[in-house]
Amino acid sequence: MYKKFFGLKESPFKVNPDPRYLFLTPGIQEALASLAYGIRGRRGIILLTGEVGTGKTTLLHMILDWLRQNRAATAFIFNTNLTTTELFECLMADLGIPCESHSKSEILMRLNRWLLDRYSNGQMAVLIVDEAQSLSDQVLEEIRFLTNLETSTDKLLQVVLSGQPELEEKLRQPHLRQLRQRITVRCRTNPLTLEETQGYIAERLRIAGASNGSLFSPEAVESIYRHARGIPRVTNVLCEHALINCFADQQKTVTSAHIEGVAHEFELDRPTAQQSTRAEDLSSVERVLRDLSTVLERMRQPTSFAVGSGKESYEPHS
Ligand SMILES: Nc1ncnc2c1ncn2[C@@H]1O[C@H](COP(=O)(O)OP(=O)(O)OP(=O)(O)O)[C@@H](O)[C@H]1O
Ligand SMILES: [Mg+2]
Repeated sequence: MYKKFFGLKESPFKVNPDPRYLFLTPGIQEALASLAYGIRGRRGIILLTGEVGTGKTTLLHMILDWLRQNRAATAFIFNTNLTTTELFECLMADLGIPCESHSKSEILMRLNRWLLDRYSNGQMAVLIVDEAQSLSDQVLEEIRFLTNLETSTDKLLQVVLSGQPELEEKLRQPHLRQLRQRITVRCRTNPLTLEETQGYIAERLRIAGASNGSLFSPEAVESIYRHARGIPRVTNVLCEHALINCFADQQKTVTSAHIEGVAHEFELDRPTAQQSTRAEDLSSVERVLRDLSTVLERMRQPTSFAVGSGKESYEPHS
């Protein structure tokens, strides 16, 4: 509803993972390069992790577009609440391999033959699994078996596992160590810095057709960064609602007051459970440091117990 008012062709801050809007920070470029290197080099399993809303799915869509342009066959699994049978069904259907049989050995035989055919034509086949932190251990094990399909020199099926940091924790479990050992490339998505947030907002506005590059005041961008802490999804929510409120006020520039209003509405100005835990962690660290310095002071007092000759100075380890 505000598009015409602000001279936009489309809404700039939708929260769907549209790769057209991909903003390339150095971190994102590095993650993209690692993904492309791992896939092209037929390295087996590639791991992409990152906090909620930092752009993993957007990056995967970008990689999928790139793979399709390069005539690679792709299977994309995003519903990770699936059984091993469903995993094979999705994989075969997405890769376009006809198979009526439900026998696992028959499915694997067909898959292997099909992959060898593609390999001899110099084509890639890639399985991409999003939200992999929710996969069951059995499905993860089947994915590991799939990477056993290989020639004497190369993996036939490349696998990208993407998920929130819980995925890394999951893969640290001893019974999944065989899978962990097969991960040859790791990459991450990270929150944006303040400067990147500025660039991110400007770039989304530009792609959406804005002619006014300073639709958000610098103070507004700082407020966005403070509340979103560099998370693109939260940044989008703040920007979208601030534009609506700005339009309602019939103003042409989004100010920090608009952002503060939206942040309050979405309760972003209150500490989350995670933030308060972090604050507690921090205060407990501060407490320990205080205790340590009290101990240190006591140790340095001549009346306290002697350490060696009493002349040694205490250098805390960094
Ligand atoms: N580098 C980026 N460039 C442009 N938009 C981005 C970028 N990173 C994230 N976004 C935007 O932020 C929103 C959330 O991104 P996305 O869904 O990819 O995050 P995610 O890491 O997959 O989150 P989750 O862990 O919840 O699955 C989307 O609207 C997406 O377009
Ligand atoms: Mg996602």
